[in-house]
Amino acid sequence: MDIEEFRRLGHEVVDWIADYRARCARGEFPVMSRVAPGEVRGALPAAPPLEPQSLNGALDDLTRVILPGCTHWQDPRFFAYFPSNSSLAAVLGDFLSTGLAQLGLSWQASPALTELEELTTDWLRQMLGLSDAWSGVIQDTASTATLVALICARERTTRYGAAAGGLQSSERPLVVYASGQSHSSVEKAALLAGFGRENLRIVTVDDRFGMNPEALRKAVAEDEARGRAPCAVVATVGSTATTAVDPLEALADIAVAHGLWLHVDAAMAGSAMILPECRPLWQGVEQADSLVLNPHKWLGASFDCSTYFVRDSQHLVRVMSTHPSYLRTAADTKVRNFRDWGIPLGRRFRALKLWLLIREQGVQGLQKRLRRDLEHARWLAGQIDAAPGWQRLAPVPFQTVCVRHGPPGLTGEALDAHTLAWVRRLNESGRAYLTPAMLADRWMVRVSFGVEATEHEHVAALWSQMRAEAERQS
Ligand SMILES: Cc1ncc(COP(=O)(O)O)c(C=O)c1O
Repeated sequence: MDIEEFRRLGHEVVDWIADYRARCARGEFPVMSRVAPGEVRGALPAAPPLEPQSLNGALDDLTRVILPGCTHWQDPRFFAYFPSNSSLAAVLGDFLSTGLAQLGLSWQASPALTELEELTTDWLRQMLGLSDAWSGVIQDTASTATLVALICARERTTRYGAAAGGLQSSERPLVVYASGQSHSSVEKAALLAGFGRENLRIVTVDDRFGMNPEALRKAVAEDEARGRAPCAVVATVGSTATTAVDPLEALADIAVAHGLWLHVDAAMAGSAMILPECRPLWQGVEQADSLVLNPHKWLGASFDCSTYFVRDSQHLVRVMSTHPSYLRTAADTKVRNFRDWGIPLGRRFRALKLWLLIREQGVQGLQKRLRRDLEHARWLAGQIDAAPGWQRLAPVPFQTVCVRHGPPGLTGEALDAHTLAWVRRLNESGRAYLTPAMLADRWMVRVSFGVEATEHEHVAALWSQMRAEAERQS
């Protein structure tokens, strides 16, 4: 493709995306894709083309085959999983990242990539009200950040054991603590970091689904008495099922007393901390060792953009760095080499999308949108609380409402079947998309607000559709 053809097709692609976004905002598609497994693949040639093909017409294939196979995360009626906003300014930032094609192997390999990442993560730090003791880096996902945190915890407890005999030389098994409401990425990280499933202790939660500090204290004491080495606690601010909050201040006290690494997983709800009124919910965060927050969720910096903050960056660098001769440069002693702040060597110019997002919206614009979403959740919670036959199952500290409809006399598996049936009907209608999930061994439905385009009219329409579908049989 020559430059002029790229220019022409590039304009077509931008127009195509702009039309797509406009149609999404008007709710022209079924929110959840209706294709059957294998349908998209089956509609495309199974073998690669032997001869070069013109890309003229490729957008027609996109419209005909790919689009029906997409679930529309930017649709204002998307209330599933969590919001994964891709604000238009961030879309442009991603275009630019790909167009500039920088690879940040070191500061020298792309000084702008490194320094813009330093700047934007520091902007975000300020927006979150965190002290300047924290330094940030962009990772691909929270799963990676949590893995990095647990590796750093392991290395602190073993006094850099990996540099010697690794876990094989550790005399006592190292233990990680998390609540049963923590995200599955915590278990995965504990396994990948070599702790072993037996050494991941699930701490009980209170009736608001936050970790019970007394239960943590007891578990740590028991492990110490049994000759194990308590190593790290992962606290969640905004759990996946209910956006529950673990009490950071109380957990930090225990972590300090027993030398545990405290990692805070605020992947989803951490964005809310740009609102000063939400910050009491993570009181104690300054005592943590590491923190992950995904601007690629609610905030709007298109996937993937997960920010990982640490208080002791020297420790992180010591754990993660390697020094092959071909990567050394004369600037190394004066700059950050972000390859030493995580797992991959290569680094995309992810900061561009976060930078453009923050510039275009301003802190106040972002705050206004998040406040609107919190209000949507409060409004729906109020409707549910007032509606006979409906039950709200958890507090609503952020933008997610957990709900069940229970016709009189329906319990146990019959209640589960009713829940799964009404949510399936609603999702298949194409008019909204919600996620069912288990809470205390029973199915319930999560309503997760935060898509950029969602306004009150969409929330009100959702509530009438939920009622229509769930009350249909009762
Ligand atoms: C609380 C929490 N932690 C971690 C994750 C994992 O995020 P990622 O996809 O960035 O690994 C999620 C995503 O759903 C989450 O809600």
